[in-house]
Amino acid sequence: MIRLENVSYSYPDGKPALSDIHMGIRKGEYIGIIGRNGSGKSTLALHLNGLLKPGKGKVMVKGMDTRDISRLQEIRKIVGIVFQNPETQFIGRTVEEDLAFGPENLCLPPEEIRRRVERVLAEIGLENYRYHSPKTLSGGQGQCAALAGTLTMEPECLVFDEVTSMLDPDSGKLVLKHVKKLHEKGKTIIYITHNLEELHDADRIIVMDRGRIVLEGEPENVLSNPFLLDLGLTPPSLMDLAERLKKHGVMIPWEKTSSPSSFAEEICRLFLKT
Ligand SMILES: Nc1ncnc2c1ncn2[C@@H]1O[C@H](COP(=O)(O)OP(=O)(O)OP(=O)(O)O)[C@@H](O)[C@H]1O
Ligand SMILES: [Mg+2]
Repeated sequence: MIRLENVSYSYPDGKPALSDIHMGIRKGEYIGIIGRNGSGKSTLALHLNGLLKPGKGKVMVKGMDTRDISRLQEIRKIVGIVFQNPETQFIGRTVEEDLAFGPENLCLPPEEIRRRVERVLAEIGLENYRYHSPKTLSGGQGQCAALAGTLTMEPECLVFDEVTSMLDPDSGKLVLKHVKKLHEKGKTIIYITHNLEELHDADRIIVMDRGRIVLEGEPENVLSNPFLLDLGLTPPSLMDLAERLKKHGVMIPWEKTSSPSSFAEEICRLFLKT
């Protein structure tokens, strides 16, 4: 659905932020992107719907080149981005108004706009906040409202750029739950994070460093790769524990490392034969 072919990009100061990126994203895929500060993750995200255009190479979204200005509106309908600071995305005076803004811009009929706003308010659980100013919402509610504002555009693909990094753990879990549900409903997900714990359910993880893709694969293989430490990344604590136990001959299957409870159950099963 999205293809990056030898994409390079430098900001006006001339420093390369992306170097020769080659990647494909399939419809319905759930991709995690990780990498230390300044590795190029956000720059890559901004390329996915044409907010930035490659200096070299090209980005194709469903066969449309992001450098083709006449296709940009269509590309942005297909790929929506949710950023770290929701405040930067709010335009409406109320949550409801904010959710209507995108579809209004697409000049959709009023009844279609209403249908979309109602559906998304219910889907994200924001009905009680519809008349609130988005600026007065808590961090977690605000991030849900920002996600809702993107969803009323009915994008096929959603890019999340560190959306939980400013949130408390519970709010972060709520946002991640919405992300996973959207994936189950068939949306293509690109999820950028510093928190590797969040990527257990991804189909594929891409690791970036200095504007390049340096590692790529299934979470099971990427998250246990010792190379992550060299890149300044901390593996999920349960994966780390499983790797340490492996050295002592205790094998914890990958699927049991998704939560402390499944991990503990497996330990009990192995040692207490319960
Ligand atoms: N607007 C900008 N102007 C100039 N240089 C920029 C700009 N935005 C990013 N850069 C530079 O481009 C490189 C890649 O930055 P980018 O923001 O894509 O990294 P990132 O992986 O998203 O980092 P972080 O984890 O901190 O969000 C860095 O060297 C950064 O300093
Ligand atoms: Mg970033």
